[in-house]
Amino acid sequence: MLSCCTCFILFVFSNISVSFQGSVVNWSGQGLQKLGPNLPCEADIHTLILDKNQIIKLENLEKCKRLIQLSVANNRLVRMMGVAKLTLLRVLNLPHNSIGCVEGLKELVHLEWLNLAGNNLKAMEQINSCTALQHLDLSDNNISQIGDLSKLVSLKTLLLHGNIITSLRMAPAYLPRSLAILSLAENEIRDLNEISFLASLTELEQLSIMNNPCVMATPSIPGFDYRPYIVSWCLNLRVLDGYVISQKESLKAEWLYSQGKGRAYRPGQHIQLVQYLATVCPLTSTLGLQTAEDAKLEKILSKQRFHQRQLMNQSQNEELSPLVPVETRASLIPEHSSPVQDCQISQESEGPWPFTSILTSVP
Ligand SMILES: *[C@@H]1O[C@H](CO)[C@@H](O)[C@H](O)[C@H]1NC(C)=O
Ligand SMILES: *[C@@H]1O[C@H](CO)[C@@H](O)[C@H](O)[C@H]1NC(C)=O
Ligand SMILES: *[C@@H]1O[C@H](CO)[C@@H](O)[C@H](O)[C@H]1NC(C)=O
Repeated sequence: MLSCCTCFILFVFSNISVSFQGSVVNWSGQGLQKLGPNLPCEADIHTLILDKNQIIKLENLEKCKRLIQLSVANNRLVRMMGVAKLTLLRVLNLPHNSIGCVEGLKELVHLEWLNLAGNNLKAMEQINSCTALQHLDLSDNNISQIGDLSKLVSLKTLLLHGNIITSLRMAPAYLPRSLAILSLAENEIRDLNEISFLASLTELEQLSIMNNPCVMATPSIPGFDYRPYIVSWCLNLRVLDGYVISQKESLKAEWLYSQGKGRAYRPGQHIQLVQYLATVCPLTSTLGLQTAEDAKLEKILSKQRFHQRQLMNQSQNEELSPLVPVETRASLIPEHSSPVQDCQISQESEGPWPFTSILTSVP
């Protein structure tokens, strides 16, 4: 179930080990309980690894001013103030401790990578000063609200899965536009309409939302496929819950926001939204119908690809390149018909299958 989250983390670890080549001191798994004054802090030590010990306190680190990477994973840390003087740090890896609050980061302006997964954090605070941060892992903590990360203009990855977040209301103000990967799986989001607050993240390519109450099957609500709805708000999404968004899902999303009522509901109307989605994006349909739908969709998509090639040809011939980007969205509507017309037709004949109006124009 957690495979999507796990692969983010593995990816990042392999990244670190290739990007820094200074000399490494590795004191992992040595049963250390204390950091004494004998820490190896020679000028050429850039990486200090103290994983899998029983260290409770980060002390005597002030001398290691030249450290670029520090890892104290799987220890017993309850505080992290001891990193405050390590102003050259680019990587700080402190997962699986008992740290209760984020601290000591004010002067770590070169920090690019921060992992605090599996601690006891209740808030995401005091991180906004690390303006070089690209990767922030706060997964598996006890965070209930999205905190202010608005100054982290280089942040690409934010991992928040396994927390107790209920609302995304602060996302537009607090999450930087640079985010490409966001994990929200295994939180407490109960209202699917909260997804609408992610629309401001225009660079978002990967999102996880599974195992939140709002997308989990319940006996009282009919089954529905939430993927097209999420794509209808996060238009550049490529991967949702570990699966690539299919062309069919993009097309459904397109329909939901341009012609359907996907954007008509507001937070507080979860039941209404879900009942609507159950009619236009049902989880199951009879096998025969599914196949016929797929065949029609395939026709639309191949028409779309043909149309795009034609446009490309045209623009190459006329050397008018602006045509291509302009048409990429409009070309989802086949036969080059006017989107406005299509919209009117479909609103009149809104049935359980959302593509009826588009499909009728396919021979
Ligand atoms: C550090 O040492 C431990 C145990 O000796 C080893 O498992 C681990 O791979 C080492 N880490 C690195 C980055 O060299
Ligand atoms: C997490 O926070 C909630 C309240 O926000 C609290 O009731 C709960 O005990 C906390 N859990 C842990 C493991 O700290
Ligand atoms: C694009 O142009 C080439 C020759 O200029 C032609 O052979 C091809 O069929 C055209 N493709 C489309 C999709 O119009």
